[in-house]
Amino acid sequence: MDLFKAIEERKSTRAYLERSLEREVIERLLHLATRSPSAINLQPWEFIVVSGEERKRLSRMLVKLLRERKATCGPSVKEPLPLYFKRRQKDLLESIAPLLPEGAVFQEFINEGSCNFYGAPTAIILTIDHAFSSRHFTDIGITMGWFMLAAHAMGLGTCPIGIIYPFQNEIKENLNIPDRKEIVASMAVGYPDPEASVNRARSGRVPVSDIVKWRG
Ligand SMILES: Cc1cc2nc3c(=O)[nH]c(=O)nc-3n(C[C@H](O)[C@H](O)[C@H](O)COP(=O)(O)O)c2cc1C
Repeated sequence: MDLFKAIEERKSTRAYLERSLEREVIERLLHLATRSPSAINLQPWEFIVVSGEERKRLSRMLVKLLRERKATCGPSVKEPLPLYFKRRQKDLLESIAPLLPEGAVFQEFINEGSCNFYGAPTAIILTIDHAFSSRHFTDIGITMGWFMLAAHAMGLGTCPIGIIYPFQNEIKENLNIPDRKEIVASMAVGYPDPEASVNRARSGRVPVSDIVKWRG
């Protein structure tokens, strides 16, 4: 698939078929994703691939923690956001809400859905060694982006999942991840459910003129 087409078409998938992913497919995706650049080529990323029953077990724990701690998907901020950011959040809600399954409540669908990796057969957890400062999170973001584009080009869907971040310690224990690794992000990956209306949602973007300052 043409790269420009993949960039234009990719979007977050929030409903998956049960069909599991072949190991070779995941290996190919990891190969492509890790062709991405990183500072000093340190390749600080590590991927934990959680599939099948293990993924379901992880999700059961995450949903339980989410309910106990009343956690919710929202921006991680140090101070209140200016209004124009809040507008973007509202726009996203409006692009997804009308396409939810009947009777679903938006926040619950997103919160519990995220913890369930939206039913994807595989969850990818990305970690970084705690020796690295947060500047190296950029490297992790780039490799995630490449993974998602490559997955799209192969006919797969993905959804980045950040809601799990506060449950670091429990996830590490659950998946036997060494203490010195920090969980940076995660993703759902699988075959998109073509019948699910939510997969028709397409988020907007502000015009480039809103986010650019030209100098010179
Ligand atoms: C770091 C990061 C964390 C995210 N976490 C979640 C999440 O926990 N649950 C979810 O449904 N979507 C999550 N998303 C997906 C965003 O909502 C989505 O990328 C955004 O609305 C743009 O839509 P698009 O991916 O369809 O283009 C996350 C995206 C990023 C980049």
